[in-house]
Amino acid sequence: MGRKFFVGGNWKCNGTTDQLKKIITTLNEGDVPSQDIVEVVLSPPYVFLGMVKDLLRPDFHVAAQNCWVKKGGAFTGEISAEMLANVDIPWVILGHSERRAILKESNEFVGDKVAYALSQGLKVIACIGETLEQRESGTTMEVVAAQTKAIAERVTNWDNVVLAYEPVWAIGTGKVATPAQAQEVHCELREWLEANVNSEVAASTRIIYGGSVTASNCQELGGQKDVDGFLVGGASLKPEFIDIIKASL
Ligand code: G3P
Repeated sequence: MGRKFFVGGNWKCNGTTDQLKKIITTLNEGDVPSQDIVEVVLSPPYVFLGMVKDLLRPDFHVAAQNCWVKKGGAFTGEISAEMLANVDIPWVILGHSERRAILKESNEFVGDKVAYALSQGLKVIACIGETLEQRESGTTMEVVAAQTKAIAERVTNWDNVVLAYEPVWAIGTGKVATPAQAQEVHCELREWLEANVNSEVAASTRIIYGGSVTASNCQELGGQKDVDGFLVGGASLKPEFIDIIKASL
């Protein structure tokens, strides 16, 4: 099953109008493979989503970094999936480890968010990943399986889901997972989907890696059988992001 390579850029809580305009200019001038080969999605903070969407090249797309778990209303400060759909923001990142850790988003809460965002027509980058303590205690697969189960119990159609495996110990640390470590978990996640959802979902769902991806490590990581792309943080704010997109070749 041919899975189109996927490269996401998570700009997190970073940027000013001027800084992001410079990044967008670099991206717009980048020589990258066609969108038939690689799907590129950039995720700025909410306040810059409209500007980025308007200025970004048409073959790249945008994502919000989060959205609320249900229909909008008396939820001060939240952004609803309906609002994102209303302003034509096609993607949303959900369950990022920073939100799971800092805002205590549970597996069930993330699963509910994924299901609701999909129900409103959004496409979802659903994040999972274990902490260093969990890896060192040998519970990596138990943890990521529970995170994935909470999503699978609520999702009926996986066509608009990209699963992002982001080991927490690799995020922002420069300590990237080895290609073997990434492939091992991605393969086990695909086997989990095969056993607990179905063969078609297992074969077609893109499982992407995130955690200290750079231009220097993306080729070997991207060459792994079950690594279908990346969710990039720090390096997506730099010109090397173009090289990471080219890892799809
Ligand atoms: O969502 C992607 C992010 O968590 C990875 O960050 O800076 O390690 O590439 P970074």
